[in-house]
Amino acid sequence: MSEETYDFEVGEEGQKGLDLLGVLFNPTTKSFIKQYGLQEGMKVLDVGCGTGDMSRWFARQVGPSGRVLAIDNNENQIHAAKLKTSDEDIIEYKCLSAYDILQLKETFDLVCCRFVLHHLHSPRQTIKLFFEVLNSGGIYIGEEGLINAAFAFPATFAWEGYMPEMKLPSEEKDGLGRDGDFGMKLFYYTKQAGFTILSCQLVHPLLWKKEQKEPLLIGLQEFKKTALAQGMTEEEWQKKYQETQRIALDDNQILGFYESCQIAAKKT
Ligand SMILES: C[S@@+](CC[C@H](N)C(=O)[O-])C[C@H]1O[C@@H](n2cnc3c(N)ncnc32)[C@H](O)[C@@H]1O
Repeated sequence: MSEETYDFEVGEEGQKGLDLLGVLFNPTTKSFIKQYGLQEGMKVLDVGCGTGDMSRWFARQVGPSGRVLAIDNNENQIHAAKLKTSDEDIIEYKCLSAYDILQLKETFDLVCCRFVLHHLHSPRQTIKLFFEVLNSGGIYIGEEGLINAAFAFPATFAWEGYMPEMKLPSEEKDGLGRDGDFGMKLFYYTKQAGFTILSCQLVHPLLWKKEQKEPLLIGLQEFKKTALAQGMTEEEWQKKYQETQRIALDDNQILGFYESCQIAAKKT
């Protein structure tokens, strides 16, 4: 499968963007995972671990009798994750692509992959690989975005959703590009991969406080290189940045962040 480029900053430069995701989604992700099968002593694979926030939490949950293997295909992320991990957290980090997990020649009790599939060109194939590396009875925890669900009221060009053209599953193919709305398809393709669904739900953070809206400025900075490469001019980017500064300070302004779809599924 072809390896795509990741559109955001990585390592220390990308930390604040991941911190924003963590603040908005970690509490719901953690309670969902606890509810659907994470136990002490489990062997966990964290796919696309970033700088390892969730991996460290997994290590504390499974304890010394468990094992956490955290992989990311970006050397800088793995380096930053190792720096943030103390000796008490027993985690093995590996620079490895989600596409290559069969090379591990290991099976796991739980595979977690959060906010990664919507960056991949072949998300459907990747879910099938998760099925392969799970033990019988093992759990897949997935969480992916629906960027289309973003909204602002009052409306602003600095934060708007769009309506994607919806294809039938028979028309969708892997390898053609990333799908920022893969979250809305997670249920369907997890079932197609052979899993039994335990639970599936949407999480939609609402940003209404200045402290919640200001981190979007960091997101804009981290995405700037990609935005310019995709055709946005410096002037357009500056205008968007200034408008984001304005709405962050406007206490009448709410923003619906990207929604996420969480799934817990079992290999029966
Ligand atoms: C938005 S971050 C999510 C990090 C983490 N899962 C979390 O929820 O905090 C996406 C991560 O996926 C990694 N990634 C992208 N493509 C990958 C691939 N093919 N295999 C493994 N990791 C990948 C990126 O390097 C990045 O660290």
